[in-house]
Amino acid sequence: MSKINLELFSKYSKPGPRYTSYPTALEFNEDFSYSDYIKFLEEGKDKLSIYVHLPFCRSACYFCGCNVVFTSKESKLSQYVEYLKKEIDILANHIDKSREIVQFHFGGGTPTYYKAHELDEIISYIKLKLGDFSEDAEVSVEIDPRFFNEEQMRVFKKHGFNRISFGVQDFDSKVQEAIHRVQPYDITKNAVDLARKYGINSINTDLIYGLPYQSLESFKKTLEQIVTLEPDRLAVFNYAHVPWLKKTMRKFDETTLPSPAEKLKIFQYTIDFLTANGLEMIGMDHFAKPEDELFSAIKKGELHRNFQGYTTKGGSNLIGIGLTSIGEGKRYYAQNRKDMKSYEEAISSGKLPFEKGVVLSEDDYIRKSVIMELMANFSIDIKRVEAEHKIDFFTYFKEAIKELKSFENEDLITIDKEHLRVSETGTLLIRNIAMPFDAYMEKYFGSKKSFSKTV
Ligand SMILES: C[S@@+](CC[C@H](N)C(=O)[O-])C[C@H]1O[C@@H](n2cnc3c(N)ncnc32)[C@H](O)[C@@H]1O
Ligand code: SF4
Repeated sequence: MSKINLELFSKYSKPGPRYTSYPTALEFNEDFSYSDYIKFLEEGKDKLSIYVHLPFCRSACYFCGCNVVFTSKESKLSQYVEYLKKEIDILANHIDKSREIVQFHFGGGTPTYYKAHELDEIISYIKLKLGDFSEDAEVSVEIDPRFFNEEQMRVFKKHGFNRISFGVQDFDSKVQEAIHRVQPYDITKNAVDLARKYGINSINTDLIYGLPYQSLESFKKTLEQIVTLEPDRLAVFNYAHVPWLKKTMRKFDETTLPSPAEKLKIFQYTIDFLTANGLEMIGMDHFAKPEDELFSAIKKGELHRNFQGYTTKGGSNLIGIGLTSIGEGKRYYAQNRKDMKSYEEAISSGKLPFEKGVVLSEDDYIRKSVIMELMANFSIDIKRVEAEHKIDFFTYFKEAIKELKSFENEDLITIDKEHLRVSETGTLLIRNIAMPFDAYMEKYFGSKKSFSKTV
């Protein structure tokens, strides 16, 4: 990777979407009716990808941007299981059970805040009502190593889980105290060892850079420690600081956050260090061993991105179950209610807790395919887009191409008649490169409070 140019990156450091969806969640609205959503579910034929959100955490990590409910009451956790089961019952009435389940993901919150028998109960119920997972399904869970035991691991093994993602963030004790997440190295190591003992051979760990008190020197040590765990995949997220949305982030003394220059040094070092240690970079924030299937998928242009990150299983219909979950079909996004009381009320009245979403217009659909291809594969196959959507790419995206000139001049992308290709350095600015294709961007221009910064 060529050296990162600080001036260039500062220029592009501005608020922008992460494009886990297009249109982004800011466009979700209540015009998308309940009956339309049911129709999409009933008429769907694609394979299924299922996401179940288990939102509870014991205590708050101050940096956390996820949809979390903090509680120490076990009764809240078990009550939620009952609602989940009712939600699954209602879904089962509207989904064809012969549809193959090719992906399953437990996200949170802290899924392993639940006891082993409760996790078993939820997964068994899903299999009973919606069908078994296909033989080569990607079955995964996010685990906070501070809450993980062998009994839970046995349940995951029994149900065919083959991917585990562990939240680490940083090993430095001062950083850990500041973020309110004290997690000594041994806790993480024991968790990884436990997963390996049960044959999990796709282990991911999450780190974040940009946290309070982090410096190049402190992060170097974190990196040295993380590679001793030999993760198969490693996410190194840029801390998304959005205190206007997440109250716990206001607990940070902002003067302790590393400067943009320090963050760039940290990230440049991270790339060099991980590459030297046998991991290769995928996109803006992921690394993996070169033999990982993600790389062969990139070469074939078949890598996809969804709300959980990168995957080789594209084209399936994502069904979101649980509080705040987002579902995705070819032509829609649908989000569940965010407020627990309202979530429970919907289910008690025999309805899905669907709240809002967006049905894609033809223009949204075209732009989504371009933006998602860029975000996942760092290139656009122009001829494919033209054939699939019956458009002339350069006419349809005239404005975007104009805006992209500066990226071209800076060697961050190349465009010819057949391909738009992002350079190695350009992959770090992939959100910025995707933004000209986003028809809603203008609406948010000047509004600093919509998205986190891209760099
Ligand atoms: C739902 S959490 C992980 C699961 C589990 N609760 C844990 O903490 O270990 C998913 C990941 O998102 C990342 N994350 C959360 N908040 C973030 C933020 N504000 N900016 C960047 N990454 C964030 C963290 O790396 C975290 O591990
Ligand atoms: S990072 Fe994980 S454990 Fe911490 S608050 Fe967020 S979801 Fe909960």
